Amino acid sequence: MSIAKKEYKRVTVKSLVDMKRNGEKISMLTAYDYSMAKIVDAANVDVILVGDSASNVMAGHETTLPITLDQMIYHASSVIRAIDRALVVVDLPFGSYQSDPKEALRSAIRIMKESGAHAVKVEGGAEIKESVKRILAAGIPVMGHLGLTPQSIYKFGTYTVRAKEEVEAEKLKEDALLLEKLGCFGIVLEKIPANLTKEVSESLTIPTIGIGGGKHADGQVLVIHDLLGMTHEFNPRFLRRYMNLYEEMGKAISSYVSDVKSMDFPNNEEQY
Ligand code: KIV
Repeated sequence: MSIAKKEYKRVTVKSLVDMKRNGEKISMLTAYDYSMAKIVDAANVDVILVGDSASNVMAGHETTLPITLDQMIYHASSVIRAIDRALVVVDLPFGSYQSDPKEALRSAIRIMKESGAHAVKVEGGAEIKESVKRILAAGIPVMGHLGLTPQSIYKFGTYTVRAKEEVEAEKLKEDALLLEKLGCFGIVLEKIPANLTKEVSESLTIPTIGIGGGKHADGQVLVIHDLLGMTHEFNPRFLRRYMNLYEEMGKAISSYVSDVKSMDFPNNEEQY
């Protein structure tokens, strides 16, 4: 089926719900800095996620837990300066919203005010209900995140597929309905079975965005370093690499090193 794509000069949370209603899939990709965000935005990606995966791919931490609110604001403001079209969603980092709703609101306000972002994302369902309500009541759009929620990695113990068993799948379905009822504008579904993504997506009017959730989500998200093949040791089944930038960059940099050593660079035309 070919889908007539509506042009969105500026993507808003409302555009995403319209896209779902019109059967247009939503593209979402992470970015953490100005130069990358400029390229991502110019390529018409609908949503840029300033993910707390910055903790892994930008800072080299093993998990997403160490990144701070100040660091997320720094990344988000760099991204915001680059974009003309995309909706920019920023992860509330671990520890900035789970303990109490007032702190959650303070954290979300700091992100919106200090970075200029358009929305925040939080991980979890019923456990963080009061925080989600409080943030939404202040007029800040909230995206949910269910399934494999990396901020809970020490509870899960592994990064394997979530909600394969009925009890966990039922809880996920209830959490998704709850997040929609509270007023979230979308939900990321990470690493869950494709048939569960289908069921959840069909039960909601707000869009689901999958990562390792299969083709029935209303949109897809990837970490840009993975899509570009910069994180060459990370090979989950759900990942499609569109480049092997690790190798390409390595070759370019080695050429530069050998040109400097051999005094080929700079040549007469490359000096003043
Ligand atoms: O932090 C992140 O990049 C994310 C995506 C994996 C959805 O939350």
